[in-house]
Amino acid sequence: MKRVITLGEFIISRQGDFPYAKGELSSLLSAIRLAAKVVNREVNRAGLSNDILGSALKQNIQGEEQQKLDVYADEQFMAALKARGDVCGVASEEQEDFISFDTPLARAGKYVVLIDPLDGSSNIDVNVSIGTIFSVYRRTSSIGQLATVEDFLQSGAKQVAAGYIIYGSSTMLVYTTGNGVHGFTLEPSIGTYFLSHPNICMPESGSIYSVNEGNFNDFNPGVQQYIQYCRSKQNDKEKPYSARYIGSLVADFHRNLLKGGVYMYPSTQKDPNGKLRLLYECNPLAFIAEQAGGLASTGRQRVLDIMPEKLHQRVPFFVGSKNMVEKIISLME
Ligand code: AHG
Ligand code: MN
Ligand code: MN
Repeated sequence: MKRVITLGEFIISRQGDFPYAKGELSSLLSAIRLAAKVVNREVNRAGLSNDILGSALKQNIQGEEQQKLDVYADEQFMAALKARGDVCGVASEEQEDFISFDTPLARAGKYVVLIDPLDGSSNIDVNVSIGTIFSVYRRTSSIGQLATVEDFLQSGAKQVAAGYIIYGSSTMLVYTTGNGVHGFTLEPSIGTYFLSHPNICMPESGSIYSVNEGNFNDFNPGVQQYIQYCRSKQNDKEKPYSARYIGSLVADFHRNLLKGGVYMYPSTQKDPNGKLRLLYECNPLAFIAEQAGGLASTGRQRVLDIMPEKLHQRVPFFVGSKNMVEKIISLME
């Protein structure tokens, strides 16, 4: 019989990757794993419950309408991370400011977490894949103090872990701690994640491009040129690429990670910095992409090199197979 490895076993077996770690990072990942199961349960029965489906009738700090599941997921991840005490603070896409946990245990925590609790909100009510994205940094402030904003405003290159959960046709948790990317599938009947995709490598080139092409006329000439290259028969595949756009970043990214492809959210005339958030969406997926052999760029700069200026900062985002992102960069120059 094939030996099966649970996520819990895997996390513990990899603890040695961090020689000075005392297990806090493992415990933190376990908190995320647990909260994700609770969110997954609600996602699966969303259509049956008015408490979960639909708008929360309020806006988040970014002026976006919050869905009930946005708020619910945010509460679940916050509560799980607070309860463990390994984390001194959390910043969430759904909250204006970061939260410092003021307990003796949390003040002694070494890490901060940044999170997009529910990605793809517009797909909740129509039974299409959605996700959660998280990013972990070592704090820069002194242990024993409350978390400071500087703990959260670090370049993506400083991440110690990043991952996502995709609530899709099956639920998967994919993460990296800087030693490759590993994927785990939830066995729903017993509520356990099993290692299903060890050492994920992104194909160097692919034939899928993912972009909201409705915005085509607002993209800059380099991006338009790349999209025309994707559509033409005179590309490296000698036939048009396939356009695939779910509108849930996690789901689009996950498909392209496994099959090879590129995801783009460029700047537009209306949104000169694009739509996606550097700290909650771009940095964690950039870290995963690079760990899997892919690339992530704003078109002008490596995403992981950006020094963030504010929590909810947005950046143009091109992520995916190495050769495809390189081609976009060359056309944008
Ligand atoms: P969120 O639901 O966390 O606000 O993120 C939505 C993001 C991302 O998941 C998706 O790829 C993108 O917005 C879709 O935007 P458009 O509808 O503008 O294409
Ligand atoms: Mn999102
Ligand atoms: Mn979100």
